[in-house]
Amino acid sequence: MRPTPTMRITVYSAQPYDRRFFDELVESRADAGLEWIYQTASLDTGTVTLAEGSDAICVFVNDCLDAEVLEALAAMDIRAIVLRCAGFNNIDLETAHRLGLFVARVPAYSPEAVAEHALAMIMTLNRKTHRAFNRVREGNFALDGLLGVTLHGKTAGVIGTGRIGLCMARILKGLGCEVLGYDPYPSDTFLAYGEVVPLEALLARSDIVSLHCPLTEQTHHMIDAETLAAMKPGAMLVNTSRGALIDTPAVIAALKSRQLGALAIDVYEQESELFFRDHSAEIIDDDIFARLTSFPNVLITGHQGFFTVEALQEIAQVTCANLVAFANDLECPNRL
Ligand code: NAI
Repeated sequence: MRPTPTMRITVYSAQPYDRRFFDELVESRADAGLEWIYQTASLDTGTVTLAEGSDAICVFVNDCLDAEVLEALAAMDIRAIVLRCAGFNNIDLETAHRLGLFVARVPAYSPEAVAEHALAMIMTLNRKTHRAFNRVREGNFALDGLLGVTLHGKTAGVIGTGRIGLCMARILKGLGCEVLGYDPYPSDTFLAYGEVVPLEALLARSDIVSLHCPLTEQTHHMIDAETLAAMKPGAMLVNTSRGALIDTPAVIAALKSRQLGALAIDVYEQESELFFRDHSAEIIDDDIFARLTSFPNVLITGHQGFFTVEALQEIAQVTCANLVAFANDLECPNRL
């Protein structure tokens, strides 16, 4: 392959761990010719000029790539956008294509990492290990309030049987659950783990419903008052996919009425205002989020499903490969 020309890439929403994994990669492949400029700011119309002088930008899930931002990037002669994530709901692809921008993502860095995190949330919420941890440290060994159910033999529904959904189905089958799947494009592989059913049947029969579909116009608020009412009373809902799959006020109403038995979320519709930063010394203005945190049967994590060493290594590697493909005008399988 031809040597890669030096390329300057402004990395938005950069965290110490992004820097660590990109720098490790550059050190091990000194000739990669990629120069990273880290910005802690997230990308929006106010911060887009930080990329001035770069050849490309690297963005994450909560960076805003609407038409205005894309026009500004093109005007600065920035030709490439690499997403260091799988989901691409935050970019106006039509405008990006019209402007001739190269856009590529990391389609599958570690589906197991996200599925394992969903499992951790289910286990925590069911057996209340988070509460037990605190109690035992305070010398409180009472079991009252820690009662869970045996997952073996329960029915678990997987909405979206793609890469992560398949891993989830395999894990749930391993637990001894009866696994149901719903996907408009079901894969044959899923049949090794469970039964493909219509959405209504999945909602009506599942003790646990886990969301693994992308955020699109069709899936926006797919969990709303109507679908919540169609769920088995007392079921657990798990969302490690994208916050806006869920209508949060409707979910709060379903928790209050006890129709929904438990909620585990790694993503939240308004997460861009909160996640990936320390707000512990501030007042949180988001009353909907604050209400969610007040339920004993709600577990929230701050979009950490992807957060494993292996996934971050893969993200860094594939992001570099995408940039090298762009710089050398090579075919890029991850191009959007
Ligand atoms: P994938 O593309 O392999 O699978 C998605 C599946 O959803 C496909 O089989 C597709 O047919 C299906 N689908 C599309 N529309 C649907 C609908 N209306 N109802 C049900 N299923 C539908 O994607 P993958 O890799 O499994 O990722 C899924 C999602 O997980 C991503 O879109 C992303 O939003 C989220 N994600 C979250 C992470 C986290 O850290 N929490 C990390 C990585 C991804």
